[in-house]
Amino acid sequence: MSNGPATPATPVSTALIKPTDLRGILKYVPRFQGQIFVLAIDGSIVADENFGNLLVDIAVLRSLGIKVVLVHGIGQQIIELSESRKIAISNADGTGVTDAATLDLAIRASSRVSHLILEGLTQNTLKCAITNSVRALPTGILKGVDQQFTGKVDRIDKEFISHLINADIIPIIQPVGYGPDGRSLRINSDLLAAEVAEALNASKVIYLTPQAGLEINGEIKRDISVDTLRALLKDHPEQFNELSLSKAAHAIRAIETGVPRVHIVDGRTFDGLINEIFSSEGVGSLIYANDYQQIRKATKRDVRFLYNLTRHAVKREELLHRTQQAIEKNIDQFYVFEIDENIIACVTLYFYPDKPQLAEIGSLYVLPFYHNRGVGRKMVDFACMRAKEKGVAQIVALSTQSYSFFTSVLGFEETEKSALPEARLKAYEESGRNPKVLIKQL
Ligand SMILES: CC(C)(COP(=O)(O)OP(=O)(O)OC[C@H]1O[C@@H](n2cnc3c(N)ncnc32)[C@H](O)[C@@H]1OP(=O)(O)O)[C@@H](O)C(=O)NCCC(=O)NCCS
Repeated sequence: MSNGPATPATPVSTALIKPTDLRGILKYVPRFQGQIFVLAIDGSIVADENFGNLLVDIAVLRSLGIKVVLVHGIGQQIIELSESRKIAISNADGTGVTDAATLDLAIRASSRVSHLILEGLTQNTLKCAITNSVRALPTGILKGVDQQFTGKVDRIDKEFISHLINADIIPIIQPVGYGPDGRSLRINSDLLAAEVAEALNASKVIYLTPQAGLEINGEIKRDISVDTLRALLKDHPEQFNELSLSKAAHAIRAIETGVPRVHIVDGRTFDGLINEIFSSEGVGSLIYANDYQQIRKATKRDVRFLYNLTRHAVKREELLHRTQQAIEKNIDQFYVFEIDENIIACVTLYFYPDKPQLAEIGSLYVLPFYHNRGVGRKMVDFACMRAKEKGVAQIVALSTQSYSFFTSVLGFEETEKSALPEARLKAYEESGRNPKVLIKQL
């Protein structure tokens, strides 16, 4: 998938959702209802002026039946405490050595941040509880250096967290775990969020950060597969800034353990969280397991969406007009391409009853935002493959404006309209659109 433009570091107000989009949001409700989203909030986001809006977004998620678990960081707060108290810290983010003084500040910073979250959720009449649900073990000695009070996750008490969620209580998880002796250990919050998501079988981890998304080589990546990200991280770690490096590593970790999607969203952006979840393009970065991009057969539930999707192409005469009823009647011919549960492209495959060795591809449409990312080609390749499986030898496509896509990109050739079966030829003549007839041997 292509890069988005580099986004400025300053918060941007994006009021992308209009009241008329509510219908669009509602379509997600049955899909997301009952699912668990782990929101990982950086300490600096809790301190940001947009935090109040973020809490309202969380209230919206809850009201839609999404189960939310909050994990927070303390990076900014521990640095502030260190400066104000003039106590040097051994490490700020829980990845290096945590000495006794740093642990003490981490506990104080955690209490402060958790309290701010508790207070904010209370203001939004949401029930919540700070938990001791993270069992930890000391990280021990790494490369000869004792990590002291830095911990790694041993076990997440999922019964406890599930109990809270099922009672409509939002669990708040601090970046401090408890060792076998009950003593506190500092844990990195990005890692913790991934571990919590794995333990709870969450469907998303959403990192709320002070950055517009995952920045690689100075650009914000809007979406990237876990394989591509893993390869980039291995071969070009220098292309990641510090924040992106940590989020990327832990996103990979989360996806490898079964979390299907990880989002990285600017927590300082008004409505950022809601727009990321409830708009097809999103505003942050999406890291997905490879099976997320999928072509599936359309169902009756997709009819209205397919109609709206193709309307613009119909207006520009790129596609033949089809009423909702016509789409519904022929829904078995439609395949759709989904990204993160949004349909972003469609194609039809029609088998001629009077010429079984020939099939027709039609209604190929890719949302403009997703152009030039190989989606159109994948849809046509897929349709060709299905046709071949059914014993079809040749496939045709009729196109008025995109015929060169078929010829120069997909290896189709122009042919005579007489190649069409009789009934189809009649409909062709009657339409008056005079499209070019393109054919390919399978
Ligand atoms: C035509 C369409 C399906 C292409 O989808 P897409 O996902 O952008 O295409 P892909 O990413 O798979 O392929 C991109 C390649 O196709 C080329 N391409 C895209 N549209 C083209 C067109 N109309 N004519 C010629 N080449 C085209 C691109 O230049 C690019 O070439 P490159 O790989 O050499 O850089 C899409 O533009 C679309 O939906 N258009 C509007 C509806 C339409 O015309 N449908 C066809 C009806 S038969």
